[in-house]
Amino acid sequence: MSDQQAQKQAAAKAALSYIEDDMILGVGTGSTVNCLIELLPTLKLAGAVASSQVTEDKLRALGIEIVDLNFAGTLDVYIDGADEVNANLQLIKGGGGALTREKIVAAASNKFVCMVDASKSVEILGRAFPVPIEVLPQARSYVARQLARLGGEPVYREDFVTDYGNVILDTYDLDVSDPVALEQTLNNIVGVVCNGIFAANQADVLLKASSNGVETLLR
Ligand code: A5P
Repeated sequence: MSDQQAQKQAAAKAALSYIEDDMILGVGTGSTVNCLIELLPTLKLAGAVASSQVTEDKLRALGIEIVDLNFAGTLDVYIDGADEVNANLQLIKGGGGALTREKIVAAASNKFVCMVDASKSVEILGRAFPVPIEVLPQARSYVARQLARLGGEPVYREDFVTDYGNVILDTYDLDVSDPVALEQTLNNIVGVVCNGIFAANQADVLLKASSNGVETLLR
C-alpha cells in the first residue's frame, strides 16, 4: 500500500470518533471517503445522507439506509475529503465533480469534519489545483468568458456531467488569496450553479494525516 493510501486510511479511522450511535451521518465523496465508508458497517448508524450518487450506491451496497436531506433536518456531522486545504481550513473541492451536493450537505450540517493526506495542504488555494465550477450547460461559454475576465483559465471537463445534469469548468490561474470574496464573486456569475471554494463555510475540524500520524486542527 502507498504511503498516501495509508494516510487516507488513518484519517478515515480518526474520523470515526466524530460518529455517534443512531446518527444520520452526512457522507462525502472521493477516495478518502471511500476508506471511511468501508469502516461504517462496524457502526450503528440510523442512516446516511450521501453527497453523490457514487457514495449513495456504495452506502446502499453495505446495507446503510439512505436518507433524503429534505427529511433529515440539520445533520450533526458531515465527513468529507478535499482537494486542497489552507491554514484557515478553507478548501477547494470538486475534483470528483460532486461539489454542489457536497456543499449543500456540508451547509446543512452542524460540524464539517474534513480528512486529508499530507499532499492536500497548501499555503494559497488554487495555485496547483484548479477551482471546479459547476455551470448550467447553456451558460458554459458565457461563464467561461466571465472567468477569463477575472484572470482565470477555464477548462471544460470533457465527458463529464454532474449528478444535476450540469457541466464543470476546471478553472486555473484564479487569484484565490481572498477565498471568501472569490467564492462570492463566482457565485454571482449568472449560470454558475456552485463553485468548489468552501470558504464561507469552511471545515470545522481538519484531520490531517502525514507519515507521522493524524493531527487534528480546529477552526
Ligand atoms: C469530490 O467532488 C471532491 O470534492 C472530493 O471530496 C475531493 O476531490 C477529495 O477526493 P479524494 O479523497 O479522492 O482526494
